Amino acid sequence: MVSPSPTAREEFVSSLENLFTISPDDIKAIVQDFHGEMRRGLSGHQSSLKMIPSFVDRPRGDEKGTFIALDLGGTNFRVLAVVLDGKGNESVPAVSTYAIPEKEMKGTGTELFDFIARCIDSFLTENAIDRKNVYNLAFTFSFPVAQTGIAAGTLIVWTKGFTATGVEGEDVVALLNDALRRRNICCINVTALANDTVGTLAARSYGDPTCDMGVILGTGTNGCYREKISNIPKLKGHDPDEYMIVNMEWGNFDKLRRTRYDKQVDESSLNPGAMFLEKMVSGMYLGELARLIIMDLIERGLLFLNESTAAGNFGEKDSLKTQYMSLIAGDATADLGETATFLNNKGITNTALRDRILLKRFCQIVSARSARLGAAAISAVVTWMDPGLNERHTVAVDGSLFEKYPGFEDEMKKVFKELFGGSAGRITLAHSKDGSGKGAAIIAAAAASKK
Ligand code: BGC
Repeated sequence: MVSPSPTAREEFVSSLENLFTISPDDIKAIVQDFHGEMRRGLSGHQSSLKMIPSFVDRPRGDEKGTFIALDLGGTNFRVLAVVLDGKGNESVPAVSTYAIPEKEMKGTGTELFDFIARCIDSFLTENAIDRKNVYNLAFTFSFPVAQTGIAAGTLIVWTKGFTATGVEGEDVVALLNDALRRRNICCINVTALANDTVGTLAARSYGDPTCDMGVILGTGTNGCYREKISNIPKLKGHDPDEYMIVNMEWGNFDKLRRTRYDKQVDESSLNPGAMFLEKMVSGMYLGELARLIIMDLIERGLLFLNESTAAGNFGEKDSLKTQYMSLIAGDATADLGETATFLNNKGITNTALRDRILLKRFCQIVSARSARLGAAAISAVVTWMDPGLNERHTVAVDGSLFEKYPGFEDEMKKVFKELFGGSAGRITLAHSKDGSGKGAAIIAAAAASKK
């Protein structure tokens, strides 16, 4: 049995740790750079932050009615019925989840929107919804959309592995309406289009007036916040004293120190050269980042040396899903037995405990950087709204990474303490589960009440 030299391993691990560490000073620099990019984006100048006006402010809390909501943006597509009671409470009497087949994600836009219409059709049938009535529908579409009104907007560019043709540059509400017409569904009136971050903010602030930010830390990542219209010079024709939610599209933030692994992830992605922050933070990419590190170690002869099978099937792109990093990170058994079982299933058998410990450490290094960058982005937005942190800010957060990754939220809170000391308690991270669909319904209700 060959053993890698402990010194070579330790040296390599600590060089990786240095590479991935985001110090408090790094975070301060990121916050500054965020502010610069936010300013440029709000003015309509070249910026990695698109700063997209959403055409809605946070709800008042008295919005009422029954709505159908669609949620498209991750691996699943969801259709929901949402009931708002007009007192800040919502309920979801029906919800159906449909896995989006690869061929719809990566085929033509017509195929994708026909799939959506098909799902709506079965939702109506399964829930015996009377097609003689007309239902207002809110569409959560979690991609960068240049919004032109509450219920209109063109897709700027796909993210998160979607590539369906003929959608970029088109109004996605028009595409949805066309697909509904093709399927003879006449009982639906699309009244709102919203990003998932905006929906998440709306859902939380329906019953909580301290909420002024919405964040997604899941397959993708993004944030939105409430901005005074006088601070959005590129938006013309609106009352400067009013407020509007701005979808930042922060996944595209690019003032970052990227490692060779980040560059590899980017180069082999479907959207190279874009979404640098998302590729360092979100669930779609973390597993692949960790896998590249593991492969590097295997190739340097520093990991799994007892193995005849060496890399198992780790050599395949995307073969380490972020959810398994979660499992490894949360493995509290003394011998890291759950990790051993996972590796066994990957074809890497009889691993040494020290190798499993190392694996766990890498998952932590990669996920801690992700959490710290997510917290840096939130800190940038909160200090933009309130430089002295004089008020309370509730940040509505959703997404599997935030919800399920062991220690993720704690690492984020650590950053707030490092930056703001005793005032860190003024920032509350509130998990707003499945907020985006409910929030879009609230936005639709607000739009209906304005009419
Ligand atoms: C999209 C955003 C979205 C985020 C979280 C990103 O890839 O560009 O619009 O909010 O994912 O779902």
